[in-house]
Amino acid sequence: MNKKLLLSALMAVSALSMSAQARLSLNVGDAQKTVSPTLYGLMTEEINYSYEGGLYAQLLRNPSFCETTQPRQAFHPVPTQPKFWELTDTANASMRIVFGARLTQVDNARQSQKEANALSVITRAPGVSIINRGFWGIPVRPNTVFTGSLYAKGNSPITVSLESADGKTVYAKTVIDHVSADWTKFQFTFSIGKKAEPTKDVCFRVTFSEAGEYSLKHVKLFPPTFNNRTNGMRPDLMTMMRSMNPKFLRFPGGNYVEGNRFSERFNWRNTVGSPDDRPGHPSPWGYWSTDGMGLLEFMQWAEDVGAEPLLAVFAGYTLNGDYVTGDALQPFISDALDEIEYVIGDSTTRWGAQRIRDGHPAPFPLHYIEIGNEDFFDVSGSYSERYQRFYNAIKAKYPQLQLISTVDGNALRANAADPDKIRLDITDEHYYRDANEMYRQAFQYDRYDRKGPKIFCGEWATREGKPTTNMNAALGDAAWMTCMERNSDLVIASCYAPLFVNVSKGAMQWESDLIGYDALSAYGSPSYYAQVMFSEYLGDKIVPVRATGIPTFTLTDKQGGTVPQIYYSATKDSRSGHVYLKLVNVTGNANDVKITLSGAGKIGGKAQCVQLKADDAAATNTLDDPRHIVPVKSTVRVGADFSITLAPRSVTILDI
Ligand code: AHR
Repeated sequence: MNKKLLLSALMAVSALSMSAQARLSLNVGDAQKTVSPTLYGLMTEEINYSYEGGLYAQLLRNPSFCETTQPRQAFHPVPTQPKFWELTDTANASMRIVFGARLTQVDNARQSQKEANALSVITRAPGVSIINRGFWGIPVRPNTVFTGSLYAKGNSPITVSLESADGKTVYAKTVIDHVSADWTKFQFTFSIGKKAEPTKDVCFRVTFSEAGEYSLKHVKLFPPTFNNRTNGMRPDLMTMMRSMNPKFLRFPGGNYVEGNRFSERFNWRNTVGSPDDRPGHPSPWGYWSTDGMGLLEFMQWAEDVGAEPLLAVFAGYTLNGDYVTGDALQPFISDALDEIEYVIGDSTTRWGAQRIRDGHPAPFPLHYIEIGNEDFFDVSGSYSERYQRFYNAIKAKYPQLQLISTVDGNALRANAADPDKIRLDITDEHYYRDANEMYRQAFQYDRYDRKGPKIFCGEWATREGKPTTNMNAALGDAAWMTCMERNSDLVIASCYAPLFVNVSKGAMQWESDLIGYDALSAYGSPSYYAQVMFSEYLGDKIVPVRATGIPTFTLTDKQGGTVPQIYYSATKDSRSGHVYLKLVNVTGNANDVKITLSGAGKIGGKAQCVQLKADDAAATNTLDDPRHIVPVKSTVRVGADFSITLAPRSVTILDI
């Protein structure tokens, strides 16, 4: 080969390798845009036994006998039975539901003891019992004190006990002596000794000492709760949420705020005050909610994980498509205004005073109210009117609050009587996608108009893996989070959904969830750990990043397309000077990246590196292998110019 040919061949090779070199240039000196301090939060709703049989620590299923084999009617030839309670000796005893007073459909009346359902048990021999097996088990651990309560009527003592599911081991037992012909509330405790092995194969038993007629209402059992709150939450799940550093808690849904019909909406008035006085209601996902998790409990949950409430108010539309407009909206607008008053009112206000009586003297911090949920499903087009009426009423009383629309500005204006009168602070966008779609859309917000409303990404998830997500989903999530983070001047808040799933057989309605559990244990999906990492390393300024030579790959799904192999975002903590660089390599091959930092001042020789990775896209965590994929910390050498090799299928954060 002559010299000229050799030279041009060498130049071609070097041009190829130069274009193949992935390079990220961070302009740390030009970090001007602010990262929204509320970027990462939590979204919650009653789905997948998230509260009942989940976070809400009460352990007995159907504690108030609201779930019955037959609906409430004047006459049934066969006595109505409670669900999830078993009678041990049907030859010598019978039981039936005695329905409480009927509640009218859209009433605000609160239930009293007289209105609650009761269980009547008639025994013809001593020692008959009824059993509750909890929500797929009851957790027993060594050195644990349970607190329980029940209302009872009868003619002789009853015994309550915690036993192994086969009845062979009695963990704890208490005799309730003074049962009489009058309704009386009894409280009891169970102390589990230090030798007990952790298990969920446990049941709760009520034994009637003599033959006779007994009645029970509100039979409840609590394990120790987070921060020892009465009517509180499961500590393991609360601890996991705290690790996510959430800045807000969006509640009560999702679909749960709307309900399947008006009578099944989240009617907050029925969820405050004594839990025994709450009537409960069917959740939209096919099971009963006791409303033990009421408005105050939601806010205490937020407080306990260091977040503030982001309150979604019912906006006159239900999942079956019913809606109201005009004057018929007024009661629901009043509900919303009173609800806000309950959250932030002082002692001079009616509902602020009620909150204080309920046990929380200080108002809660509150900045955001969402009007409804996913009203783009309302094909009638009534949302524009409903939104506007709620918006005007809430702003008139609470001008400091930022209001969130569940549809975008164009749709709002298209259906409005006077489009010019529509005011829009924030719109909520929901994205449930697979990993490929997350990659395709990972630059979506870079293109958004900055003159429009701010964005709340109020539900999002990469839906791969079940019951909880797998590593491929975590890669899609991480790619999506780089997009939100790069654009967090616009995306002011975001929260993944759904948060929880009880993984016991029959408990899941929605696949691909963030945190899984059964009665005894809990674990985080790879997606959970990706979020823990992203929220832990978050600065207050967005660092502009110029990317060149990022390798791409072709997606082989129906939609196809070419997408980057590497996704990135960078922020800076202006007080500490730390720069956080997030890198996501979504492919099965390692990728070298050259990184340049300019305007960063002195850069230390070592940086902390936190990495989540897996060999297999389908790899995941489970109850049996809860820490298969977790973040691992190491140290790497960095400088103004350095290289890093990103492991296949990895999420990497450098704390520089
Ligand atoms: O998170 C599951 C459901 O998805 C929510 O209830 C609803 O808002 C959305 O459609």
